[in-house]
Amino acid sequence: MRAAVVTSFGTPPSCQDFPVPVPGAPSQELVEVVAAGLHPRVRSQAAGSHYTSSDELPLVPGIDGVGRFADGTLRYFVLPDTTMGAMAERTLVDVRRSVVLPEGTDPVVIAAAMNPAMSSWVALRRRISFEAGQSVLVLGATGNAGRLAVEVAKHLGAGRVIAAGRRADRLAALSSADVTVSLGDERLGEVAAEVDVVIDYLWGEPTAEAMRAVVTGRSDRDRPLSWIEVGSVAGPTAAIPSAALRAARLQIVGSGQGSVPTRDILAELPALAEVITAGGLQIDARAVPLAEVEAAWKETDASQRLVITP
Ligand SMILES: NC(=O)c1ccc[n+]([C@@H]2O[C@H](COP(=O)([O-])OP(=O)(O)OC[C@H]3O[C@@H](n4cnc5c(N)ncnc54)[C@H](OP(=O)(O)O)[C@@H]3O)[C@@H](O)[C@H]2O)c1
Repeated sequence: MRAAVVTSFGTPPSCQDFPVPVPGAPSQELVEVVAAGLHPRVRSQAAGSHYTSSDELPLVPGIDGVGRFADGTLRYFVLPDTTMGAMAERTLVDVRRSVVLPEGTDPVVIAAAMNPAMSSWVALRRRISFEAGQSVLVLGATGNAGRLAVEVAKHLGAGRVIAAGRRADRLAALSSADVTVSLGDERLGEVAAEVDVVIDYLWGEPTAEAMRAVVTGRSDRDRPLSWIEVGSVAGPTAAIPSAALRAARLQIVGSGQGSVPTRDILAELPALAEVITAGGLQIDARAVPLAEVEAAWKETDASQRLVITP
């Protein structure tokens, strides 16, 4: 079969012949892959730089996707940490890590949206006690996950959603946000001072700066503030001011693979798939044939989520 294959870390995968994998457990099934998203997590998997990397090569990248199963159903699936990923004509899926999609669902849209949308969905539903009416700041709202976080927060009942990001043109396009503000704009502390929740895709210096601004601007220091660390596009470490933790009822938690048990992530899949299938979120996806995977890897503009289609 054909697959995207990484033979050395630091070099993009290329489309090559690859042995068809053989199921090794009763719950495993050989599935025909229909679509697999090229998420940042897949890039770090292929680069060997993700915290779950085992450094094993060759590696077929892809952490999730949509596939046709032996019973004829079209399902969204999530793979475990494996070197046999989703960017191949066929892959091995544990059926328990899949959810049946209604016929007529666009597999490219599902493959594009589930991973970035899940980041905020799981954060709000599984890492904090989020209540309808609460206000949310999305820090780093211009990427695929950030844009969807604005919509997911609204969908889950957020009262006011503030979107902060570095690109003014992309911020202006966020029609679901109540307020948009550029990173580094001194108004950030003012407009976000009373938020209940921060969904943070940035980390690094912008997070340290935003945390100082939000905590300093707060009129009611007793009001709880949940800061959920979800991504780190601006840096793997941040100089968190100690005073922020003392001066406000601030709790910092992370949300992702590990901090949320796999069973909890799986339990959220059906509801999210339903919302996406019903057209409840705006998704900008582009299908790229498997044969062009190497070129797709070189496209790093975040305006669209690329989806590899075998
Ligand atoms: N924990 C989880 O469950 C989970 C799940 C999915 C994703 N994630 C993580 O979330 C992050 C975003 O994912 P994504 O799918 O949205 O990626 P994406 O579509 O590639 O978007 C990344 C965005 O980050 C912005 N950016 C990059 N460097 C920046 C900086 N220094 N300051 C401000 N903005 C910066 C870019 O901004 P411009 O628009 O300005 O170019 C781009 O819009 C990644 O770290 C990813 O690994 C976590």
